[in-house]
Amino acid sequence: MELSKLASILEGRQSRPDQLIEVLQDMQTQFHYLPEDGLRIVAEKLGVPPIEVIRVANFYKAFSLTPRGRHLVTICMGTACHVRGAPNLLDTVAGHFNISPGETTPDKAFTLERVNCLGCCALGPVAVLDGVYHDHITPGKLRKLINAVCRKDKKGKKKHA
Ligand code: FES
Repeated sequence: MELSKLASILEGRQSRPDQLIEVLQDMQTQFHYLPEDGLRIVAEKLGVPPIEVIRVANFYKAFSLTPRGRHLVTICMGTACHVRGAPNLLDTVAGHFNISPGETTPDKAFTLERVNCLGCCALGPVAVLDGVYHDHITPGKLRKLINAVCRKDKKGKKKHA
């Protein structure tokens, strides 16, 4: 974790406990997870007991205590999505990247996660790619979406090269 990036997240914020979730959201966005050493600094700066910071970090699904990829693919495996083909979606992504649910590609580009219900069962099967919900998704559509993200990443790398 780069301390300067955490310093810029904390900069200009009031050192109050009610800032905790916003700070954790910014850290998750910046680092793609919540580094332990960063959580200790946040606890001290905001005046929140470290155990409470860990509790909040564990409570919300949006936060991860282990490193995630730059992109997150979430497949709903709840009953309604399951019967409409969610296992094929999971297999498609897992096979595409050669990773299992809960894992991140070696280049830290993609993390695959499975959840039990996203709360929109009538729209299943549902997948979420970088926070965007895709309803009635098929393996083919999901593959296209992932390939589009990969192409965009490659273009971004060329620009910065
Ligand atoms: S089972 Fe997939 S959204 Fe509920």
